[in-house]
Amino acid sequence: MEVIRTVSELKQRVAAQRAQGKTIGLVPTMGALHAGHISLMEQARKDNDIVVVSVFVNPTQFNNPEDLRTYPRTEEADCVKMKAANVDIAFIPSVEEVYPEPDTRTFDLGLVAEVMEGPMRPGHFNGVAQIVSKLFYMVEPDRSYFGEKDFQQIAVIRRMVEIEGFNIEIIDCPIKREDDGLAMSSRNVRLTPQQRAIAPNIARTLNASLDYALGHNLAETKQYVIDTINAFPQMEVEYYEIVNAATMQPISNWEDAPVAVGCITVYCGEVRLIDNIKYTK
Ligand code: PAF
Repeated sequence: MEVIRTVSELKQRVAAQRAQGKTIGLVPTMGALHAGHISLMEQARKDNDIVVVSVFVNPTQFNNPEDLRTYPRTEEADCVKMKAANVDIAFIPSVEEVYPEPDTRTFDLGLVAEVMEGPMRPGHFNGVAQIVSKLFYMVEPDRSYFGEKDFQQIAVIRRMVEIEGFNIEIIDCPIKREDDGLAMSSRNVRLTPQQRAIAPNIARTLNASLDYALGHNLAETKQYVIDTINAFPQMEVEYYEIVNAATMQPISNWEDAPVAVGCITVYCGEVRLIDNIKYTK
């Protein structure tokens, strides 16, 4: 595995591979790699000749400076994991390398960005669109891989791809969970042992809501999820929204979408956790 830190070297290396007819898969990450990231790399490995992984804690997508400051940074351990996952190129740039000048682009992300994480984290999705588009211009991959834990993010990235006219296949990969059901996240390491013990109740409640939904309407099911999770100590639901999986728009009845996705964010102490579940007819 080659570790590359500059954009010019990255472009040179991938251009050389492309000239030989090789396909390129890109896995964008912010590091603190866990099994969820590794599953994206494994999928990229199956689908492509060359796998590029970027490790970059993107400042423009953090609307909370404290979250940016405390975001886990574990480069050495990340490199060991990427090597073990048979990654060809690890791109680990500095902030100055990625943003030699401030990125002033504003993306018209439309309705998919106007709900849930959109209003809760102003500027977040524009920052995601900035960094992912920059990476796409640098690497020009055939395919790029994203985890379904950030369900709305994938819709935003698809919209950015449409705006920029990229010919890149966006592959969404299933959520990876700990044995007790907690969705894997780089932020899980911030949970205290007590919070870590309670956190799996998010996934348990979402799962239980699949049965509950069989006998209840959508509004009742939403309330059930919110009340059940809020009853645990240190847990507070920020939002639970059930949306059309294709449009991200909230729905009022189960009949309003062939696939509905329940998207949740929960504060477990200070740590903001997200998860989702699909309700299919
Ligand atoms: O999902 C993430 O880790 C980040 O939002 C991404 C896509 C790597 C962009 O910084």
